[in-house]
Amino acid sequence: MKGAIVFAAGVSHAPHITGFPDHAPVESKLRFYAAMNEVGARLRAARPDVVVVVSSDHFHNLFTDRMPAFCVGRAAEHQGPAERWIRIEPFSVKGAPSFARAVMQHAFRLGMDPAFSDHVVLEHGLAVPLSFLTPEFDYPVLPILQNCMVPPLPPLHRCYAFGQVLRAAAEDQGLRVAVVGTGGLSHAPGSPDAGRIDIEFDREFLEMLRTRPMDVLDLADERIDAAGFGTWEIRQWITALGAAGGGKAEVLAYEPVEAWETGCGAVVFSLEH
Ligand SMILES: [Fe+2]
Repeated sequence: MKGAIVFAAGVSHAPHITGFPDHAPVESKLRFYAAMNEVGARLRAARPDVVVVVSSDHFHNLFTDRMPAFCVGRAAEHQGPAERWIRIEPFSVKGAPSFARAVMQHAFRLGMDPAFSDHVVLEHGLAVPLSFLTPEFDYPVLPILQNCMVPPLPPLHRCYAFGQVLRAAAEDQGLRVAVVGTGGLSHAPGSPDAGRIDIEFDREFLEMLRTRPMDVLDLADERIDAAGFGTWEIRQWITALGAAGGGKAEVLAYEPVEAWETGCGAVVFSLEH
């Protein structure tokens, strides 16, 4: 069988999305939930063998005593969620250890040196998206953690390159692989700016993905910083873009939800271009 990236998407993962569903304006919530359910329907229709979820880690698995730019979770099984308050029932999901090994090997071959871990607890960055996209937790998951928390952060082009690693590994392994990049859009949780959403940045970012996606690699760090430190998580969308081969995005939702302290977006990348 010919391996390929069969699906690629970018979605927000704020814990409030499931933790405080009724704090959001009802229309915003319903539109965002509908978009997430649509992303899930398309993912499952693509019949992936493995779902790669690329997220930041919010100090549940990694801290400054060891903080890799990229970390591959290679366990045979993962548990979640790390946070009990996000209203997702405890779950176990199969891992993808042999694909994890292939990703490591292709990373080395393509000039990248990710860390790996045999114990990645799935916190909200993975659990919130998975609760919509594969609500039965019945697809093998490969977690990839990218440092979006403690500068220096991996540059945007390195995240794109990691997406290309995922693509090469899928093709080599003969697997149908879905890649979901999670995080962002603009937010600054726990800071004095918490709740401020940079709608202008978010809309510009989404429009770039829709019309000229490769331009996002040139976004200035200062502009991303100005949208709030949580915006650093757009890196995961760029990794998914790399896995998609730079295809344009279809924007399914954008809801700036102050009560969730996050500009919430959902896009699906084109694989034909
Ligand atoms: Fe996050």
